[in-house]
Amino acid sequence: MSAAAVPRSPLLDAIQEVLISEDGVADRVRELGERITLDYQGRDLLVVGVLRGVALFMGDLIRQIHLPLEIDYMAISSYGSATKSSGVVRILKDLDETITGRNVLIVEDIIDTGLTLSYLTRALEERKPASLAICTLLDKPSRRVAHVDVQYTGFTVEDRFVVGYGLDHAQRFRNLPFIGVLKPEVYTR
Ligand code: IMP
Ligand code: MG
Repeated sequence: MSAAAVPRSPLLDAIQEVLISEDGVADRVRELGERITLDYQGRDLLVVGVLRGVALFMGDLIRQIHLPLEIDYMAISSYGSATKSSGVVRILKDLDETITGRNVLIVEDIIDTGLTLSYLTRALEERKPASLAICTLLDKPSRRVAHVDVQYTGFTVEDRFVVGYGLDHAQRFRNLPFIGVLKPEVYTR
């Protein structure tokens, strides 16, 4: 993936490099939506987004899934404002829907250590869904601590902390339309 030039603005000034452009994200999201559309033909589908990072991806992805579907959200504790996983996972907001007997597709922004999703899939499996699959926009396999079965991956990225398109650093930068890397001084601020 080649780095694109970024014009100056207070928000963009913090960016060192664009890893995946807005168009690159959109193209891949369309492809993921097409595959999911084919795979879930004729099946009841509940798409579950993991807050908050998934907000932008979820909105774009479901518009590329051309099937009747329902959506729901979960929130789990994650990094706080640091860039390292605490390993502690807690459900902050549970599903509103019952998933027993349903086809559930979990949508996540990024899988890093895998701790969040391995915990979440175990918790949801106990509710006996008809099927449980995972779609993640980004995957950092080099950082994996806990095994996770991922059916749909947007992009595999190297071990760098990324922001934008929903992903944050200290709750900022979610509104960038692309996925990028911050200047080193921003992380230590
Ligand atoms: P895991 O439990 O280590 O797989 O962490 C998953 C969560 O950590 C993601 O949903 C993000 O909220 C956060 N995370 C991991 N890596 C990054 C990153 O590079 N940028 C922003 N958030 C990240
Ligand atoms: Mg997240």
